[in-house]
Amino acid sequence: MNTNQTSNSQQPPKENSSAKNTAVDSHTVQTVAPQTDERTALVEGRRKISVARARLERLFDDGTMEEIGAEVTHRATDFGLEKRRIPGDGVVTAAGLVDGRPVYAFAQDRTVLGGSLGQAHAQKIVRLQDLALRAGAPLIAVNDSGGARIQEGVDALGGYGEIFRRNVQSSGVIPQISIIAGPCAGGAVYSPALTDFVGMVEGSSFMFLTGPKVVKTVTFEDVTVEELGGATTHAYKTGVSHFAWKNDLEAIDNTRKLLSYLPSNNRENPPFIEPEDDVERMDPKFHDVVPSNTRQPYDVRKLVALVADKDSFFEVHENWAKNIVVGFARLGGHVIGIVANQPQEMAGVLDIDASRKAARFIRTCNGYHIPIVSLIDVPGFLPGRTQEHAGVIDHGAKLLYAYCEATVPKLSVIIRKSYGGAYIVMSSKHVGGDINLAWPDAEIAVMGAKGAVEVLNRRDIAAADDPEAKQEELIQAYEDKFLNPNIAAQRGYLDAVIEPHETRRKLYRYLRVMLNKREWMPPKRHGNIPT
Ligand code: HXC
Repeated sequence: MNTNQTSNSQQPPKENSSAKNTAVDSHTVQTVAPQTDERTALVEGRRKISVARARLERLFDDGTMEEIGAEVTHRATDFGLEKRRIPGDGVVTAAGLVDGRPVYAFAQDRTVLGGSLGQAHAQKIVRLQDLALRAGAPLIAVNDSGGARIQEGVDALGGYGEIFRRNVQSSGVIPQISIIAGPCAGGAVYSPALTDFVGMVEGSSFMFLTGPKVVKTVTFEDVTVEELGGATTHAYKTGVSHFAWKNDLEAIDNTRKLLSYLPSNNRENPPFIEPEDDVERMDPKFHDVVPSNTRQPYDVRKLVALVADKDSFFEVHENWAKNIVVGFARLGGHVIGIVANQPQEMAGVLDIDASRKAARFIRTCNGYHIPIVSLIDVPGFLPGRTQEHAGVIDHGAKLLYAYCEATVPKLSVIIRKSYGGAYIVMSSKHVGGDINLAWPDAEIAVMGAKGAVEVLNRRDIAAADDPEAKQEELIQAYEDKFLNPNIAAQRGYLDAVIEPHETRRKLYRYLRVMLNKREWMPPKRHGNIPT
């Protein structure tokens, strides 16, 4: 593995409205004629951090980047550090515009003392965090660091503490996005974990509290960087990373795109983009995408594509907990957050990871005025010892908590089925859903017909002359009575039963009249979300 390489030459960036057309080679070395010794040192420093600088130049709109504190150096003298004083101290801190809006960003460079964070390096980041918060502008962190600079001891540890505290102060006020662009350890992963989004570059970025060398000395375990903390681990297994990007360019272009769905701060609304397609579009394809047999799988992302404005869906946590799909989209130009059960993965059942994933996304939407649209097709929570022992009670409750806590507009459509606890949790009227819709064949019940009949009628079936026929008869009676949206609609738990082909139009019309929703929770210091 060559950890010093960025992989921007591997593949072109995805088609992306926010992507810039000018390709920047992140290995570009700026050559400036030295004039004095001091100038030589500065230029040498800049040359060394040119990868980091090029990453930021790619992030900002062309020609808008202004660097802050480029000449800062550390003052440490231990372990020979006095001979390794590099202007900038291994981090480029800057401000500029992204799609015309102010954004602050820093990029670390592992070619300077492993990108490690000493006191001066930390002070530069802290200053940027303070400026971003004051200016009400997003902060982007390009992390490429071995963590606290060992030679600077407690000054380095303290530096991370200052950064973490500001990460938390900024949480829910300004969007914070972390790109992991190389091997990152210690504070260089804890700070990202405190931000709204983390994205990794496949094959060249890694996240761990302690690297393989330290693991080996402590536990004698041999483990590769990829296994310990590559994108295959964090974007697929742990969910620590929301995105796995193919190379640096894709990482940066997708970060620009992600910003286009977010407001600059929690006092603003997300940017509106005039839709190209008809918001009143009534599409017969809704019937084709969803099979009427509730046991037959389908890809709910096809349904999302029919509901959302053309090509507007931006999936988050695409590779983790695939039994639920979350992401941003636009509906009639307005940003919405989609939460959709995914019938083609584990029948769309809710489990620990799905609950954590959706809960986190809902809280992000709620923090930034993004209405939540839930597309529901869920058989319930996954039963069993594995889930119970891993704490599904608490993790499932996180999802419940997030829906109950969210005060943004909450709209939902029950597509085919919504059973048991999952019915209540998934944006039901009872937990504060604003607009609740269902397709005409939607099944809403405590459980499916077969299970219900087994619980309620076991003795009747056993006593019958023809137990099988009796069971069929009872199942049919249960289905006729419960497995439709009628009772819920009559009780007012559903606001309307809609035809599948009018789903986009109806959601848009209800969204339009909910956009100015204001709802407040009782005054409190903060709630206490389950662990
Ligand atoms: C000082 C560091 C450093 C660090 C790396 N370097 N990490 N210098 N402090 N924390 C230096 C190396 O000495 C080396 O310098 C250069 O960076 C490249 O490092 P390599 O090990 O050669 O690179 P690589 O093989 O790619 O491995 C990268 C790595 C590894 C996986 C990140 O360096 C590593 O494990 N570092 C330690 C990580 C760690 O445990 N950090 C925890 C810090 S505690 P030369 O001069 O030889 O090129 C922390 C506190 C906060 O952060 C905790 C929050 C809760």
